Amino acid sequence: MPLHTIDTARLTGRIRELGEIGRDAQRQLTRLAGSDNDKAGRDRLVAWLEAAGLDVAVDRIGNIFGIWCGESNADVEPIMLGSHIDTVINAGIYDGCYGVLAALEVIETLRERGVAPARPIVVAAFTNEEGVRYAPDMLGSLVHVGGLSVEAALSTVGTDGTMLGEELERIGYAGDAEPGFLKPHAYVELHIEQGPVLEREGFAIGAVESLQGISWQRITIDGVANHAGTTPMAMRCDAGLAAARIGLFLRDHITRSNAPSVATIGTMRFEPDAINVIPSRATFTVDLRDPDEDRLQGLEAALADFLLRVAAEEGVEISVERLARFQPVAFDLGIVATIEASAKARGLKSRRMTSGAGHDAQMIARIAPTAMIFVPSRDGISHNPREHTEADDLVAGANVLLDVVERIACSGWKGS
Ligand code: GLV
Ligand code: MN
Ligand code: MN
Repeated sequence: MPLHTIDTARLTGRIRELGEIGRDAQRQLTRLAGSDNDKAGRDRLVAWLEAAGLDVAVDRIGNIFGIWCGESNADVEPIMLGSHIDTVINAGIYDGCYGVLAALEVIETLRERGVAPARPIVVAAFTNEEGVRYAPDMLGSLVHVGGLSVEAALSTVGTDGTMLGEELERIGYAGDAEPGFLKPHAYVELHIEQGPVLEREGFAIGAVESLQGISWQRITIDGVANHAGTTPMAMRCDAGLAAARIGLFLRDHITRSNAPSVATIGTMRFEPDAINVIPSRATFTVDLRDPDEDRLQGLEAALADFLLRVAAEEGVEISVERLARFQPVAFDLGIVATIEASAKARGLKSRRMTSGAGHDAQMIARIAPTAMIFVPSRDGISHNPREHTEADDLVAGANVLLDVVERIACSGWKGS
């Protein structure tokens, strides 16, 4: 099979162009799901999909699909490629967008080279992968696989009090296709690594064989507001101090256990939020992750025990709301091997790895053979405007995706 090559300028140009959509006056890039900025990004993507001659479908949860049937039978299960174009707050330009735009690039390259795949090929951009505005993360792909009803997903209330369904209506992306209407024969997601491993170890390609479990909780601590100057330390019910103890506990517990678990308190709010008032309430989120389900459960249990202890010792009340819980996922080893073989055929060094970040692939893996391709992230930085991947690495990953698609869609590959 001859090796084709994607169009470097077209791919990197589109990544940069999409990366300009949704910047504020300080040039910070934020396209939260269902926002005006998300709409602007979606509009640009749909324009590219239509210009490429793809059939565009939008489902009821706002997932966007660009479908290329070519000569193949539209009733045959497609190869699905994709990721997401929503972002975190003050984001980089590659997270998710790279996978979606490389998927489009793969289709255009195949068509321009006269390749006739035996199956349709679909570009997917899933709604609310990041989960910053609406929990859980990977919400659109979760709905696609039937893990959450579309009604429940549409009525999700965001951090700003908005409802996802109303926001999708407002921005014109509450489509009519029934979620899950496309069942993929295989799903392959190309993504930047967002961590330091590939760069540090000198690999161009990660063949991602698994993805760690994710646990999200919102914790609310109720104490008693009182005067910061007059209340002796021993007489306080300080919600802020209790929250601080929980952050320290998680760091120390994980360090002591020597496990690869990670814990993050990414948001925290105090009430009344005044310099001279002991906080009456602290509300914060906890993100726990581990590649091993038993260990993740152990970490959740250790946190729950510590919350009881802190409540007693600090004289506060603590309540917990679960926002997301996903078990670790093992990807399809047949696709992983195909990724490795494709990288080798291009002279690219690859290694197998697990994903630290959550991805739509972990949801689609519930209904179809799935795997991911990673490319290096400079300094392992992501969810940060400094996120960067060299153009050569972007192109290498997209070419590997192209080869994997050719191997799966043009051969008698039946899955593993
Ligand atoms: C998604 O980016 C996540 O891993 O939180
Ligand atoms: Mn992502
Ligand atoms: Mn992300």
